[in-house]
Amino acid sequence: MDFNVLSNDIAIDFGTSNTRIYIKGRGLVLDEPSVIAFDSICGEVIAAGADAEAMLGRTPASVTAIFPLAGGVICDCTLAEELLKALLRRVCPKTIIKPRIFMALPCGATDVERRALRDAAVIAGARSVYIMSAPIAAAIGAKCDVMLPRGLMIADIGGGCCDFASVSVGQLASVSSSKTAGAAFTEAVTAHFRDYHSLSIGYLTAEHCKKEVGCVFPKESNDRTTVKGLDLKTGLPAEISVSCEELRDALMPTVNEVAEALKNAVDAVPSELLGDILEDGILLTGAGANMYGLVKRLHIDTELKLFLAPESEYAVIRGLAAATENMERISKELFTVYHG
Ligand SMILES: Nc1ncnc2c1ncn2[C@@H]1O[C@H](COP(=O)(O)OP(=O)(O)OP(=O)(O)O)[C@@H](O)[C@H]1O
Ligand SMILES: [Mg+2]
Repeated sequence: MDFNVLSNDIAIDFGTSNTRIYIKGRGLVLDEPSVIAFDSICGEVIAAGADAEAMLGRTPASVTAIFPLAGGVICDCTLAEELLKALLRRVCPKTIIKPRIFMALPCGATDVERRALRDAAVIAGARSVYIMSAPIAAAIGAKCDVMLPRGLMIADIGGGCCDFASVSVGQLASVSSSKTAGAAFTEAVTAHFRDYHSLSIGYLTAEHCKKEVGCVFPKESNDRTTVKGLDLKTGLPAEISVSCEELRDALMPTVNEVAEALKNAVDAVPSELLGDILEDGILLTGAGANMYGLVKRLHIDTELKLFLAPESEYAVIRGLAAATENMERISKELFTVYHG
């Protein structure tokens, strides 16, 4: 029989760069790029997730591959809905009772963006949608007790946004967010090759270069990598060898923006919570926080104590997963609930 009799609670971290899906009782079942590829003429979906990411910049004119989220929120509703449906269909059997879906939203999201996320979940098959703010989910996922009467500050550094929040007794005390995050580092790499080497490189090449050799603090070894692209002067394929030092210079303006956003976020923390936060340090989550040297760089620039969550990329999905597994232990006030 094709149907499960019981419905499953599902947690989804629908991020700008990556989508992570956790099914209650089964664990993490999907961790793939938030990319969809479709036929540009008839609109038919051709691929979703990793298969679609591999097509970025490599599609014929009749196929388009894109990220339907930007800055932490949905920017193309139809494609985001199609992407969520395609990814869920892959990992989740049909159920007679529709699932409850638990999701996270950046603090800076507008009501329209919140509705777009809820609608995508409903169209993907949710009977009700539980939305938690991303930094709170990340803190729970990093095993911090957000219900304590003590200031806790989280900086979730994702692909499309840095989401900052201070929390005490399960309530957001201050929030702010900045669109300068992982994708901005990738764009800085692309711009560097274009402007200084007249080399046009693809998204996947820039991502690889950023993760493998990129850094924002000096590395002990001066790693190099060879980057392939298109010479903008000759129009021919070309390759350039680049050092981590050169990339660090290219990434500095972006990391300075992140540091500035973090300082502004700390300035917005209510004074009663500031002492706790300065004493305990700021929790960094999100895969973007894995950039080589980011924690050290931010510490030097801001003079703040910072600590990186273990496997920071999974903090948000783990927080949402905890809610599916143990709803009674998570305060209802942490969610906005929509019933279909
Ligand atoms: N080792 C690494 N070094 C540098 N950047 C990295 C590394 N690993 C991942 N990233 C970057 O982290 C970003 C993705 O982070 P994450 O998966 O937390 O984002 P997201 O949840 O999809 O986005 P958002 O929360 O902004 O909607 C990408 O820009 C990716 O390039
Ligand atoms: Mg995220």
